[in-house]
Amino acid sequence: MADLMNVQAHVRLGSNAGQSMTRRDGVLKVTGRAPYAADRQPGGMLHAVTATAGIARGRVAHLDTAAALAHPGVVRVYTPANRPPLAEHPDTKIHGFAWRMEALQDDTVRYAGQPIALVVADTLEAATEGARLLNPRYEAEAPRIGLDGNTPYQPETVSIGRPPSLEAGDMDAARAGAARHLDTVVETAAQYHNALEPHAITAQWFGDRLEIDTPNQAIGLAKQSFATYLGIEPSQILIRSPFLGGGFGSKAILYGAQLLVVLAARDLDRPVKLALRRDQMFGPVGHRPATRQTLRLDLDEHGRIAALDHHTLAVASTFDDFIESASNASHSVYATTAMRTTHSAVRTDTGTPGPMRAPGEAPGSAALEVAIDEAAYALGMDPLAFRLLNYADTDPSTGMEFSSKALRECYERAADLFGWKDRPLEPRTMRQGRLLKGWGMGTAQFPCPMFQAAAHATLRADGSAVVETSAADMGQGAWTALAQIAADGLGIDIDRLEFRSGQSDLPDAGVAGGSGHTATAGTALFNAGADTVRQLADLATNDPASPLFGAGNAGVTARGGRLYRNDDESRSEAYEDILARAGLDLVRGEGKGAREGEAQRAMFSHGGVFAEVLVDPDLGQIRVNRLVGAFAVGRIVNPQLARSQLLGGMIWGVGFALHEEAIHDARTGRFTNNDLAGYHIPVNADIPMIEALTVHEDDPFVNALGIKGVGELGVTGTVGAIANAVWHATGVRPHRFPIHPESLI
Ligand code: MOS
Repeated sequence: MADLMNVQAHVRLGSNAGQSMTRRDGVLKVTGRAPYAADRQPGGMLHAVTATAGIARGRVAHLDTAAALAHPGVVRVYTPANRPPLAEHPDTKIHGFAWRMEALQDDTVRYAGQPIALVVADTLEAATEGARLLNPRYEAEAPRIGLDGNTPYQPETVSIGRPPSLEAGDMDAARAGAARHLDTVVETAAQYHNALEPHAITAQWFGDRLEIDTPNQAIGLAKQSFATYLGIEPSQILIRSPFLGGGFGSKAILYGAQLLVVLAARDLDRPVKLALRRDQMFGPVGHRPATRQTLRLDLDEHGRIAALDHHTLAVASTFDDFIESASNASHSVYATTAMRTTHSAVRTDTGTPGPMRAPGEAPGSAALEVAIDEAAYALGMDPLAFRLLNYADTDPSTGMEFSSKALRECYERAADLFGWKDRPLEPRTMRQGRLLKGWGMGTAQFPCPMFQAAAHATLRADGSAVVETSAADMGQGAWTALAQIAADGLGIDIDRLEFRSGQSDLPDAGVAGGSGHTATAGTALFNAGADTVRQLADLATNDPASPLFGAGNAGVTARGGRLYRNDDESRSEAYEDILARAGLDLVRGEGKGAREGEAQRAMFSHGGVFAEVLVDPDLGQIRVNRLVGAFAVGRIVNPQLARSQLLGGMIWGVGFALHEEAIHDARTGRFTNNDLAGYHIPVNADIPMIEALTVHEDDPFVNALGIKGVGELGVTGTVGAIANAVWHATGVRPHRFPIHPESLI
């Protein structure tokens, strides 16, 4: 039965989902009326600034708190000596999504940029100056920095609680029978999330009740976490996070300074606000760690992959265990008779890494796609032909069938639009003027997780409705796409729908992460609407005065705020009339969203990405000239928003391939580029022509709505496509990201 339920046809959506709609919150945002956390100005508010460590390892020997306190406007300086107590140690991992935090528990410095004091003052200027006057003295030890900074160790888990290795098939036998093998090593740099909106928090206590404004990707979880560390009940806490100016994973996880601000607000009985400066986001709020990935591909005489071995060495912090699961990118794209994926990590004096847009898959697919391209060239094969020969149609890591099989179509559609068929195999054969031109491709892949979400829907007497769930809109358009689904669940026009979201007193919408938010929260919202319509249909079809009387619940269909008899469309009734006759002010439904039962299939989104680059033969300067991707992402709720998510991912791929790189000074362990002048991300001029298509995909297994994710997929595939285009242009094979011009000349 469970299997049957999994394969049932998708639920029918109405006229709202499937439409391109601009963001419902767009006008609020462009007119500056969307309230972000740092916009809060409660009366009597104080400003907090963290002082951060200028060393990467050691201890703080002295802080001149007297000097800071003597500065006009400074109200309090918190250090480990006077930090108010917490109910739970900030190094306690209270659940799987809890990271060890710095909340002034002691004088240890674990990384450069770590908060070592919190200065609270009447003005931001006074707090900033107070922090400067602390003038810390350190006992410093030599920092361990980078992939070679320490002895590697074997982690017990990678990512969040996943096994660090996987072996499928007989590796030795597959290798022994192979006609040739290929070894390659690819390095990827550390990246920092750098959302447009820096991390911020405003906290205010009303007696024993706490109100927090802070952007967060998982408000329900954050509420529980705050409650645990503070030793109060979750019901005492209200978190508002209506808008996030980007998150990319870094706002899914609590960080120590948030606890400090909440403690300060209670201690001082005043609202307190903290907004991190750009440089202060390099360290305490997660990052994508550097990796060194070693791949070995064994190929049989027909050019098929016989064995695939992918090892990742990833940078980790000294005090926590998030290990970038890059090798797992090799699990589910290419067919192979044997596979081994492994991870090791190196503990360095850096902030703990965390999930960052397409965690694991982004660096993993970058390395894998380079290796695949090298294998194609080792065989003298066109890279597309090689992928068409080798892509998997059954997940090689689990033996499960894929829930849908659209990858071939992604390859073909994108290749067609790109014009791949005229590509000369030989590198360094195409030119545009004096520039070298190259074409490369990569395969995009991302899993389709679902989390747990709940939602309420309330239909009012006038036929309008309000839906409620604590969903997080990081800018991806959740306010719009989720409202479209909710309106269809209720069978009303979206203009009659009020969408309440982004607040922790609403039903928990789970995590806006893993590209699973639309599927998960959307399912909860749809079900809440459907539950409401079911009650409405009960009222009408059991009422002799209704034109729907006797139709039975399954005999009516909801749309446009009316119920219609399926057997006679001329017989219908408006929601408000049904409510009025029943004497009701409202009908309220509830819904949940989660994956149904055990996964029966391997569930992924897929895509093919093609890149054209132009390389200056004298300077090594690389420009991406064209980028075309075709993606299979299930049912599209809002084509315009889905496309912009895919484009955003591909643009991130450009940044990954060519720009993003956090650089540590190996002597001090400090960053040399913790600002947007030195930490480069793509700007408009870096993205000349880019297109993302979606191929029709009806995945009957993924969930009843048929919805997959679009947020992270676009990063994958793109990085490799650009690197492979650079190879094709120059004849130089990039083995490090970002690709530096000097590596090409
Ligand atoms: Mo994401 S890294 O799932 O916000």
